[in-house]
Amino acid sequence: MRIQIINGPNLNLLGQREPGIYGSESMESYLPELRRRYPDIEIDYYQSNIEGELIDKLQQVGFSCDGIVLNAGAYTHTSIALHDCIRSLKSPVIEVHISNVHKREEFRHHSYISVACLGVICGFGLDSYRLAIEALRA
Ligand code: DQA
Repeated sequence: MRIQIINGPNLNLLGQREPGIYGSESMESYLPELRRRYPDIEIDYYQSNIEGELIDKLQQVGFSCDGIVLNAGAYTHTSIALHDCIRSLKSPVIEVHISNVHKREEFRHHSYISVACLGVICGFGLDSYRLAIEALRA
């Protein structure tokens, strides 16, 4: 099985960015843990702060991999282009958020991408990524 994790804007700062909300672990230290836990799954990782680059990556992997775990960051709440892209793909996409966006500011309550995704997991810290992998595996 091959799963692609894609992180959007500002998620390169995980570990340093608002640790009270996003925790103090970086993606670079979490990823090896995740890969150890699922030795039978190839877990690829990509991060970009640029909307078009996220779309390029989704198009590149979205017809061949077994699933995509996407944390689109703030583009979740703004991007019709990501919505359209996800709808065009063959691979299932799970929308993930580290924080519980529904407990936060109202502008985070709406997602343009949820309707195009297989499901949504949010609010479990970095464990949200593992739960998404579990969902894809099932
Ligand atoms: C986030 C939630 C978004 O509202 C925010 O813009 C992010 C991170 C999360 O993982 O909790 O950048 O997607």
